[in-house]
Order: sequence, then structure tokens, then C-alpha cells
Amino acid sequence: MELKHIAIIGAGAMGSGIAQVSAIAGYGVTLTDVSAAQLDKARRSVEGGLGKLVQKGKLTQEEAAASLARIKTSDAFGEAVGEADLVIEAVFENLELKQKIFRDLEKECRPSAILGSNTSALPITEIASVTKCGSRVIGIHFMNPVPLMRGVEIIRGQLTTDATVEAVTEYVKRIGKEPLVAIDYAGFIVSRLLDVLMNETMKLVQEGNRPEDIDKAMELCAGHPMGPCKLLDLVGAEIAMHGMETMERDLGPTYKPHPLLKKRVLAGLLGKKTGQGFYKYE
Ligand SMILES: NC(=O)c1ccc[n+]([C@@H]2O[C@H](COP(=O)([O-])OP(=O)(O)OC[C@H]3O[C@@H](n4cnc5c(N)ncnc54)[C@H](O)[C@@H]3O)[C@@H](O)[C@H]2O)c1
Repeated sequence: MELKHIAIIGAGAMGSGIAQVSAIAGYGVTLTDVSAAQLDKARRSVEGGLGKLVQKGKLTQEEAAASLARIKTSDAFGEAVGEADLVIEAVFENLELKQKIFRDLEKECRPSAILGSNTSALPITEIASVTKCGSRVIGIHFMNPVPLMRGVEIIRGQLTTDATVEAVTEYVKRIGKEPLVAIDYAGFIVSRLLDVLMNETMKLVQEGNRPEDIDKAMELCAGHPMGPCKLLDLVGAEIAMHGMETMERDLGPTYKPHPLLKKRVLAGLLGKKTGQGFYKYE
């Protein structure tokens, strides 16, 4: 199954990064979002990302221009997904919203199209359960920031076929990433471990530890490339909170989101996305 054209739904932090790496690898990309402003922002972000790669000597000016030209943006859902061989959904981490999109995808996409979700924690079988095409539904969990992080979790739903897994594995390799397989339980591998770390960090903050010290401790004493407060700011506090909620629902009360995490989400202290988390961002 050769994939040529990719549609990405949701042009936020993840969708724009997925568009960039896919276009560099030669895929035709259509990026769609309910917000036209977000589509403009995503295009600027991809332009900026490609510019950095040119500065670093990793792409020529011509390759960057050709990559950008391969990305179309559209706020018309049906038009955006109609021609796609592979769709990657990257909207907010909300089960009902994702299920609605997968119902619509089943109607609007070609019957051979593979339908992927970039969910951080929601079981793929549950997203697929509202469709009759579970054989073509799969988790493709990119890491943030997409252009830099090498690993991609591939999550097979209960009905996902080998052909779907093989085609997506091939795509992940072609964009220069390393695929790894995670089992379809809430949080998979990466969010299961990292969300717990970030949730526990809330307790440390509440007990009076300074975010700077927590980050220094994990960077200098545990060798983490980035401390958990910086990581939470990068990921978005709401993403970690929703991950914990999904794991609490499926795996038990150990995963209950800390009240301070919820409070920070309610206050809009999401991190880089809102310009303010534990640290301030331009
Ligand atoms: N942020 C991370 O570190 C990270 C890492 C891996 C996976 N994820 C997952 O990726 C997904 C997106 O996360 P994000 O951080 O990019 O979020 P984001 O808030 O930056 O972007 C989400 C985008 O979806 C758009 N959207 C909402 N409803 C839509 C609809 N009906 N149709 C089209 N677009 C719609 C929004 O306008 C927004 O631009 C989530 O499922 C998240 O859990 C996030």
C-alpha cells in the first residue's frame, strides 16, 4: 500500500510539526483546522522550522521551498481529507471530539485510506469503536517537538490489520523516525510514564519546591534532557491532565490528576501554548 498524500486534522503544535516532517519527506500534505487563524499560524511555524533547517545546513533553500509548496491548508474538512491515503488526526485530547472526527472520516475518506490518531493516551480501539473500519484505524503517536524527536509510538487497535501497521511503519521510517510498538491501553508507554512523572511534580511544587530546583535536580542528578516543569510547559498542562484522567478511568485511582494540575489548566497556565506555565514564553 503506497501512501502519497497525507491529510492532517488539527494545525496546532503537533499537526504543524507532522506537516513539516511529512512534506520534507516528499509527501503531499493537506493541513486542516476549524480555525483559519490557526492554519496561518501553522504555515508560519512550518516556514520558521524549515528556515532553521536551512540555517543549520540540513536542507537547501530549494528543498525548503519545495517542502513548503507541498503543504496545502484548507478549512473545508471533506475537501481536505477526500484525496488522502493517510489521515493523521491531531485535534484536542477529547474522546467525543476524536470520535466525531473518525465518524466523519469514515464518510469522507476513500475506502482504502488509513485513519491515524496522534492521541497521547486515549485507547485506539475506543476511538475506532464508533466506525465500521477498525481494520484501518491506528495510533501514530508523535512526540513534541515533532521535527526533533526521533521516536514514534505505533498503537494497534483490536481490529487493526497487519497491512495497516506495515504501511504506517513504512511512513514513519520514510520521515526519518524510529517506530516502536506500544500496546493499546490508556497512555501507551510514553504518556503512561511521563504523565505520572509530571503529576508527581505537582506534589513537589505544592510542598514548596521551586520549579527551577526540580528541573535542575532531574537534569543534573538524573540525566534527563529536560526537567519535568519544563517538560510540562512544552507538552501543555491540559495534555498531561487529560492523559491522567484517561488512565485514572481505565487503570485506577493511582492515576488521579493532582488538584494543582487541574487548577493550573483552569487558570490557562498551559505552558508554551499560552505563553505562561512554570516559566514565561514570548
Ligand atoms: N502537545 C504535546 O506534547 C503532544 C504530544 C503528543 C501527542 N499530542 C496529542 O496531539 C493532539 C493535539 O495536541 P496539540 O498539543 O497539537 O494541541 P493544540 O491545542 O496545539 O492543537 C489542536 C488543534 O486542533 C484544532 N481543532 C479542534 N477541533 C477541531 C476540529 N473539529 N477539526 C479540526 N481541527 C480542530 C484546534 O483549532 C487546534 O489548532 C492531542 O491529542 C494531544 O494529546 C500532544
